[in-house]
Amino acid sequence: MKSTYNNPIGIFDSGVGGTSIWKEIHQLLPNENTIYLADSKYAPYGLKSKDEIINLSIKNTEYLLNKNCKLIVVACNTATTNAISHLREKYNVPFIGIEPAIKPASLNTTTNNIGILATRGTLNSLLFATTSNQLSDKINIIEQVGEGLVELIEKGQLYSPNMTILLNKHIAVFLKFNIDYLVLGCTHYPYLIPQIQKIIGSEIRIIDSGYAVAKQTKRVLEKNNLLNLNGADGYNKFYSNADKKILDDLLYQHKKASVDFLDF
Ligand code: DGL
Repeated sequence: MKSTYNNPIGIFDSGVGGTSIWKEIHQLLPNENTIYLADSKYAPYGLKSKDEIINLSIKNTEYLLNKNCKLIVVACNTATTNAISHLREKYNVPFIGIEPAIKPASLNTTTNNIGILATRGTLNSLLFATTSNQLSDKINIIEQVGEGLVELIEKGQLYSPNMTILLNKHIAVFLKFNIDYLVLGCTHYPYLIPQIQKIIGSEIRIIDSGYAVAKQTKRVLEKNNLLNLNGADGYNKFYSNADKKILDDLLYQHKKASVDFLDF
């Protein structure tokens, strides 16, 4: 079936973190209809093999395509860096991915040291290695795996003693270097910004790719004549295959957002 501009945008992540991307898209394009899938039952993706990540990404994409989504946003750095080329080859809809914003950080750094916090799956991916190798003769990129952070967020423990311990441990690595930018390379991490900023202080700028993804989504919709021209607010549906309360809690500011359990 041919997509029309009224069809929804499909968004998926390994879990609840991709809602940080949904929020940017919703703010920029409020009259778009959206369907969000949190594959929390299988989170974290960051510890899985490339093949497992590809298969889970295919499962999520097929669900969204069965709902007639006109464009798919892979709101997960780990799924983008490991699977998006397969998805683009296999399906005939536009895909928008998210990658750690090390390029913009490298253009703006004055200390020539930038930090990146991401999952093991993202930091070990070929796509990430290619981008960072292109930059590494000019700047020093300090990589740190955010071990355990996604798991705590998926358990609803965003503000918890365990989170404080883990963040202090991970951030300490960056504080040994004179970094001026810290790139968040996982869509779960924007929810940690207030806590991270407290540890690193106000001198170091934290950047994530959420707004850039929303702008790119708009550009690609326009280019394909798929931008929703309907003036009314769009509908937004959220599905989780684990405890839907965790997702509900992250969406508390969005009164009309409701989450359903889905066995997928
Ligand atoms: N939000 C995912 C990302 O951006 C988390 C990955 C995971 O499940 O480990 O990478």
